[in-house]
Amino acid sequence: SGNTDFYGKKILITSGPTQEAIDPVRFISNHSSGKMGAAIADAFARSGAEVHLILGTGAKKPKNKNIKIYPVKSANDMFQAANSIHKAMDICVFAAAVADYAPKDIALEKIKKEGEGMTIELVKNVDIANCLGKAKQPHQIHVGFALETENEIFHAKQKLEKKNFDLIVLNSMRQEGAGFQVDTNKVNLFFEDGSSLESTVLPKEQIAQLILEGVKKVPVKI
Ligand code: PMT
Repeated sequence: SGNTDFYGKKILITSGPTQEAIDPVRFISNHSSGKMGAAIADAFARSGAEVHLILGTGAKKPKNKNIKIYPVKSANDMFQAANSIHKAMDICVFAAAVADYAPKDIALEKIKKEGEGMTIELVKNVDIANCLGKAKQPHQIHVGFALETENEIFHAKQKLEKKNFDLIVLNSMRQEGAGFQVDTNKVNLFFEDGSSLESTVLPKEQIAQLILEGVKKVPVKI
């Protein structure tokens, strides 16, 4: 839309899936395509912001060539990249689907097919949004996502509080045309002050615009 609403603002966005290695040829991941994150990155860039996009492997790249991309693989890589620039940011949007657990040990060689079953021990990954939420400065705005399959609103509101978000964007796996992979999404926005907004099924570009409008509604703290 060519506006300058976020002129000079520094935006951190995480997007796409993380990959947690099992051995040199295998990993644990999820279905995130990076479409939602790319749309948000382009929307901020269009409104004059300096966008820093931390991008999981295979995730969709934004159109705008001024966006700085930080390619990462694992949740830990994503955390390192985000943590190294967080302090200088004005707005952070955590759109990535980060693996909550990763294999405890990464086998150095391809694991051989032996026996009828196998067990992989997993350990908890760093929660990027939660950790950076603890370091959030008064002027910073944090926007989180919640991808839920049941008790959606309850879990979203719980994450809003627990991760110190100013705004959380709920998308449901139960909703047709929403969530992973598809070009559209349907979201609920829950603000820290208790107010909320609900969208219809819209192209992810329009959902991104709605999120920008949402960010503008967050009260400024000095
Ligand atoms: O990429 P697409 O195919 O376009 O799909 C978009 C999407 C469905 C991936 C996106 O809209 C979305 O919902 N992203 C968040 C998915 C998710 O992992 O949600 P969650 O409810 O598990 O996590 C809650 C929040 O904490 C999220 O902001 C997440 O980025 C963040 N988180 C979670 C775990 C972790 N270890 N670190 C995090 O930062």
